[in-house]
Amino acid sequence: MQSAVQLATAVSPCRWLAEWARIRDRELVAAARFDRAGYTRVLVDRTAAAELWLLGWRAGQTTAIHDHAGCETTSIVVRGSLLEGRYEQVGLESARRIGERALVERDLEPLDASSIHRVQAIESAITLHLYAPRYRPGRTFAEAT
Ligand SMILES: [Fe+2]
Repeated sequence: MQSAVQLATAVSPCRWLAEWARIRDRELVAAARFDRAGYTRVLVDRTAAAELWLLGWRAGQTTAIHDHAGCETTSIVVRGSLLEGRYEQVGLESARRIGERALVERDLEPLDASSIHRVQAIESAITLHLYAPRYRPGRTFAEAT
């Protein structure tokens, strides 16, 4: 069987992700995991060139300020709402906030390879993330004042 993410690289990632998340909605909700210690990550699918991850967030849980190690990333909110802050790097290890956006159910968030951001769950949430190439941890930054 052809991997789900193989198809994603052949068409618009946003269009593909939105349609895939809609079709698999119930499976995704059932597969999401939640943990008091922090947001969780579940690998949904993988090819040599891309990965699809499902994240489960409890209200208030947040990422560090981070980049994506050169990955192009597209995300969609499956459930809940989150706040995304965008940053620009101002030093070797620090970044300044340059904007923010509330993300609600079905919102898409495309990130290019140089984007820096922080995501915080406003309420319990489930998000689906397509990484190309495969996910690897990015750099983290301190918030510049
Ligand atoms: Fe991110």
